[in-house]
Amino acid sequence: MSYSRRGFLTAVGATGGAGALLATMGALGLAPTAEAAARTAFVPPQPSDFSLTGRAAKKVVILGAGIAGLATAYELGKAGYDCTVLEALDRVGGRNWTIRGGDKITELDGSTQTARFSDGIYMNAGPARLAQWMVTMDYCRELGVPLEVFTNSNSQSYIFNASAGMTSPVRWRTAKADVYGYISELLSTATDSGALDAKLTADDKERLLSFLRGFGSIGNKASGFAYTGNEHRGYSVDPGAGEQPGTILGPVPSLSEVLASGVGQRFSFEFGYDQAMLMFQPVGGMDAIPKAFADAIGRHKISLRSTVTRITDLADGVEVEYQDAHGRKRKVTADFCVAAMPPHILAKTPHNLGPDVQAALSMPTVTSSGKIGLEYRRRWWETDENIYGGITNTDLDLSVMWYPSYGYGTRRGLIIGYYNNGANQDAYAALPHAQREKRAVEQGMKIHGPKYRDELAASVSVSWRLQPHIEGAWVGWPSRTGGYQLLNRPAGHVHFAGDWLSYMIAWQAGALESARKTVTDLHQRVLSH
Ligand code: ALA
Repeated sequence: MSYSRRGFLTAVGATGGAGALLATMGALGLAPTAEAAARTAFVPPQPSDFSLTGRAAKKVVILGAGIAGLATAYELGKAGYDCTVLEALDRVGGRNWTIRGGDKITELDGSTQTARFSDGIYMNAGPARLAQWMVTMDYCRELGVPLEVFTNSNSQSYIFNASAGMTSPVRWRTAKADVYGYISELLSTATDSGALDAKLTADDKERLLSFLRGFGSIGNKASGFAYTGNEHRGYSVDPGAGEQPGTILGPVPSLSEVLASGVGQRFSFEFGYDQAMLMFQPVGGMDAIPKAFADAIGRHKISLRSTVTRITDLADGVEVEYQDAHGRKRKVTADFCVAAMPPHILAKTPHNLGPDVQAALSMPTVTSSGKIGLEYRRRWWETDENIYGGITNTDLDLSVMWYPSYGYGTRRGLIIGYYNNGANQDAYAALPHAQREKRAVEQGMKIHGPKYRDELAASVSVSWRLQPHIEGAWVGWPSRTGGYQLLNRPAGHVHFAGDWLSYMIAWQAGALESARKTVTDLHQRVLSH
């Protein structure tokens, strides 16, 4: 009897879990670097996994063709599992939804919008940015989805805190120059006066002062380490040829004014592990990911417009009832089911999985979120304001405004006019689309003036709570014990998957990691029974 190395490792992984797998790989001299460990811990099921056990790949019905459902079908398919995916919508991707010209947006009350976007213009209504460390990047490589940089922070975009009394927006670079400058002035003064001597050695003080001089671009000791503004703020007249040195942007606000503006409180956004540059997006729209998954799985295995109406765990498998694209009642039986639907939709679906499962599915709270896409006849943010991608952050009800990270220098472009959550989003969701557009434009004019209204060509808004079969942007758990743990285990022959079963809720990476976990659990079960 000969074990293939991969088969051996898979068997160890299946019985001992990832920890045992990695320890065995280490013993065999195959240990990955510590950084790569998390990625290599997932071993996709292989046809050869079955060759020693005499077992065969099973039939699996997967509920939902969102990212978790697609990844489940894709990974199980590698080992020859017979997968059927039922999807209620007429497209794959779930919340991964890219809207282009001609697409229809229907809300729960039946109201519809038709996107009138130009060729080449798209709006990522759901996920729109990928962090470099996320497994989503690995799937893009594996599936051949080309990526480009998504500009999540840009020194040229704005901060606008109306409630702090700001009357005009300030560029991120200017806000940073002033905050860093004054903080450096204060900290240098305190350091030099001995106020921090209990915490700093003489060498520490010298090095800290040296750092602050560059960080804040402040004056020397004789000047009192004064911050007086500098080119970090930007220019009102840019440097040019000949006798044109440029004019540094002024006037410089006082320390007190800078603190009162609250601009510094915005800065930590770009330090977030999941928000820091560089970030990425698929070229041409986020839906390149679900489309590539669907092609790899085989489109014939995915039934669109098929709404699950009942899930029944049986003694030796599972039965799923659904209504097909023609309105007919259908049934599918399988050895296992992977329910990769939102928990609040599963909670409304009849099943026999018991009261604990039902209670757990009802536990997460649903978050509101939504966006409006505004297509403009002219890329005035580039031509008039030198903003090529990035985000403007505000305390207006629009929350943030996104400039496109594609199509630079072309004629038309699409701005995300709001991307808001909670009460701000609920206020927009309550309005018909035309009113959402009007309100978003009125708010946005506070940043960009009348062209924000006058050059608008087309718009579309998506409120995730009002999207049929989805009914929410993402969910939150009261705790990661109890119901969360219960649903991270199978209920009879039904396994669950989704971003909501991960520590990366509201990220495709969460859905992908959850799918990998569920695939591993299910495959291990099949191999060991
Ligand atoms: N992951 C989502 C975002 O980046 C919430 O906006």
